[in-house]
Amino acid sequence: MIAEGTIKTRPVPLPATADAKTLDGFGVEVVSGFDPREFTAEEFKDLERLLYTHNVVLFRDLELTPEQQYKLTKAFDPTCESYGHGNNQVSDGARAEVGRDGGLRVVTEGGLTGKQIKSVLHPDLKTIPSVPQVQLIGNGTDPVSLEDEAAGATRFYRWHIDAALYGPLAPPKVTSLYAVEAPEGPPQTCRYDDGTGDELPVPLGTTAFASGTAMLAVLPPAVRRLALRTRVRYAPHPYTWMAGARALSTGLGLETEGLEIEGGDLPAWTAEEQQVLPACWRNPATGELHLQIHPCAVAALEVAPLPPGAARREDDVLPDGGEVTDLGEVRRLVYAMQRPGIAPALVYPHGWRNGDLVLFHNRGVLHSVVGAFAPDQVRKFHQCNLAASDWPQGPSAEDLAAAFA
Ligand SMILES: [Fe+2]
Repeated sequence: MIAEGTIKTRPVPLPATADAKTLDGFGVEVVSGFDPREFTAEEFKDLERLLYTHNVVLFRDLELTPEQQYKLTKAFDPTCESYGHGNNQVSDGARAEVGRDGGLRVVTEGGLTGKQIKSVLHPDLKTIPSVPQVQLIGNGTDPVSLEDEAAGATRFYRWHIDAALYGPLAPPKVTSLYAVEAPEGPPQTCRYDDGTGDELPVPLGTTAFASGTAMLAVLPPAVRRLALRTRVRYAPHPYTWMAGARALSTGLGLETEGLEIEGGDLPAWTAEEQQVLPACWRNPATGELHLQIHPCAVAALEVAPLPPGAARREDDVLPDGGEVTDLGEVRRLVYAMQRPGIAPALVYPHGWRNGDLVLFHNRGVLHSVVGAFAPDQVRKFHQCNLAASDWPQGPSAEDLAAAFA
């Protein structure tokens, strides 16, 4: 047991597959010393520090109302008000209902345009009327065949950061996930199916977390040097833009087949409202850098030249800087930056129990839903995150000087 301020913690149960050295300090369970339902400002400071230090914080056996969850989540960013994707993307004439498979589906009643309905966010998100910032999440979908699924195989659903990535909504700092009803069933094998033979044993219905710090740290030098210089331009209305595209077998981005919804087929948009964010985000408490890219939503890369005085390597990508706008090339580069960081040894697949509350540093980790469910396997979670009051900061001049020294 470790004491951090007045809070007592222990490491989360990393699986035997995990590289304990690289993931050292990633994820803690709070054993005592903090009640998420009632806390003072002083107590909260310790929790905040804990979250930014360990990136995933788990509480077990908790009874938590949506109001309490909202209050706790908001404490990380007290001046923000809006759910991370806006508060009303499934209201305005749409209602959500539980489908026969136990998943939530949005049923439209004339209020949404066809363009809005296409967004990939709609099938899984439903607002709780009394606390619109808290969302009820149902089942995802799973791309393995029914035969493979019956044999216990599954895949990552979609690696992502919780963020609107268009317009004025900044990526939330923290997401809270509360398991009202976790699915019960045998463990599964998550297959990568990308020719590497990689696979990862996972609890049924896990949420998988990958550390953005580890993702950056394990890169070969030339790729890390590219990540440090890259800014990512996201597509306009990215969740609508990507809605027709197929995910890669690893869930880490999309196939490039020309299936994006482009230009005039999107809801009205402007280039000014497209978000351009650093590829590496600086941790506000520790100063660490996290590689944070939403792989499905990327449209282009803006690469800065090597800093003045930096020694050049033969394999540096775009040493003089430049833009990458060819979507296939953009995705190839992003995949090279991110794939090492989701290796089985670097993934923490959380085994959910009823009453679990997980807080995660949404600017420090990537996460993915994993698994599909039989009709009698229910998954009911409350999720809350709030569009942030500030924007993620990229590497500082000192970070760059140290990285390229
Ligand atoms: Fe998410």
